[in-house]
Amino acid sequence: MGEYRITGGARLTGEVTIGGSKNAVLPILAATVLGKRSVIHNCPKISDTYCTIDILRGLGCDVGFDGHTIVVDARGIASHHLPEDLMDKMRSSIIFAGGLLGRFGLVVAHYPGGCSLGDRPIDLHLEAFRQLGALVEEEGQVIYARAKKLAGARVVMKKTSVGATQNAILAAVLAKGTTTIENAAREPEIVDLQRFLVAAGAKVTGAGTSTVIIEGVAELGDVEHTIMPDRIVAGTYLAAGAITGGHIRLNNVVYEDIKPIADRLADAGVTVTLEEKAVALAAPQRLAAIDYMATGPHPGFPTDMQPQFTAMLATAHGNSIISEKVFDARDKHVAELAKMGADIRNVDRKRFHISGVQRLHGAVVEAHDLRCGAALILAGLGAYGETVVGNSIYVERGYEAIHQDLQALGADVKFVTARSQNNPKPQDI
Ligand code: EPZ
Repeated sequence: MGEYRITGGARLTGEVTIGGSKNAVLPILAATVLGKRSVIHNCPKISDTYCTIDILRGLGCDVGFDGHTIVVDARGIASHHLPEDLMDKMRSSIIFAGGLLGRFGLVVAHYPGGCSLGDRPIDLHLEAFRQLGALVEEEGQVIYARAKKLAGARVVMKKTSVGATQNAILAAVLAKGTTTIENAAREPEIVDLQRFLVAAGAKVTGAGTSTVIIEGVAELGDVEHTIMPDRIVAGTYLAAGAITGGHIRLNNVVYEDIKPIADRLADAGVTVTLEEKAVALAAPQRLAAIDYMATGPHPGFPTDMQPQFTAMLATAHGNSIISEKVFDARDKHVAELAKMGADIRNVDRKRFHISGVQRLHGAVVEAHDLRCGAALILAGLGAYGETVVGNSIYVERGYEAIHQDLQALGADVKFVTARSQNNPKPQDI
C-alpha cells in the first residue's frame, strides 16, 4: 500500500511503451484450465495477475512467472472449487467457472461481492451455463454448477456482458456440438481470448462481432500466445497528455482498439494520429468541453475511461455532460475531484454535469477503485501544487508502474510506500 504524490504543471512530452492488457490476461489465464501447457507473453505485472495465478495454483496448476511471461501447466488440476477469499478479492475470478465446468463438468464458486462500481450480478453467466445444459444450484452465497457433458446450444445474452460472453465461450469450447452466442459483447479482449483458444486447438469464430460460434472439440493442446496491448492504459496516458496540453507518443498500441477514445479526444480539440507502430497525441493549451458523451459496450466509449475523462473535462473550456450507461455507481471520483476544485453535478450517480474551471488545485484525495485512482492522478498532473492520491492498492490492480510511465513523459509523480497499517481491502472490480 502506498500513495502517489504529484506536483502538477508539466506539459507531458516524450514516449512510453504500453504493456499487456489486464482485461485480456485475466480471461486467458482462466482459459488455461481447458488445456495443457500454455506459454503467455506480455503479461502485465499487476496485482490482479498475481491473484489469478494464486487461483490457478489453488486449483492444482503449476504456474511460473518470469519477466512478463507466464507458463501454466494445467494437467495437474485437482480441484474445481474457486476459493471464497480469492473470489472476494477479485470478483472477476468468476471467469474461471466456464472453463472448469467445460473441462470437468463441475465447479463450486462463491457469489462475487458487489464492488465500488455498484452491483455486479452474474445472472447472465449462470443463464449461459444452464442453456449449455448445466444444472446450476445456489445455496446461500455458494454456486454449484455441474453437467455430465455440456451440449452446444443457442445462447442468447439478455444484456451485453463481457464476462458472461467470455464464460459462455469457455464453457462451450469442449462441449458436444456447436454453440452460437447471440448479443455477445464485442470488446477487443474477447478477440484476444479467441486468438488464444484457436491457437490451443479450439474452434471459435466471430469474436468482435455480436455472434460468436464455437464448435466443440475433444481437447485443447499446448499453446503460446502474446497478450494484446492494454487499450485502457493507453487511453489513460492519452488523457494525461490531453490534461497537460502535452505532445506524447505511445508505442505498442492497436489504433482500432483506442479509436472510440481518440474520437472523443478529437471532440475536446486533441489531435490523435496513427503512426507506423505508435499513436501520437498533440493537445491544445486548454481543452474544449464536450456537450454530451456516453459510455457503452464496445465499440462505444469504454466505461473504464469515464473517470479519466471526467477528470480531463473538469478544466475544459465550457460545460460537458458524461452519461455512465454501463455501471450504476461508477462515480466515486466525483467527490474526490471536488476536493481539488472541480465543479461537477452528479445527477442520479450516472450523469455528470461538468462545468469546466480554469485549473484544479492540489489536495489529499483517495482512490476508491482502480479507474478512480487513475483519474485522480491525472487530475493532479494539471493541478496547482501537490496532490496526494492514497490507497495505491487499487491503482496497482491495473497499472504496472503508472508513476514510472508518467515520469518518463516528464511528470513530477512519486510513489511513496505508506506506513499506515489500516490498508483497505481492495473492493473488487
Ligand atoms: C469487464 O467487467 C471488465 N473487467 C471491466 O473492467 C469493464 O468495465 C466491463 O467489462 C465493461 O466493459 C474485466 O474484463 C476483468 P460486464 P465485467 O459483465 O465482465 C451487468 C476495469 O476497470 N451484468 O460487461 O464484469 C453489469 O452489472 C474493469 O478494468 C449483469 O447484469 O462487465 C454491468 O452493469 C471495471 N449480469 C454490465 O452488465 C451479469 O451476469 C456490464 O458488465 C453480468 C453483468
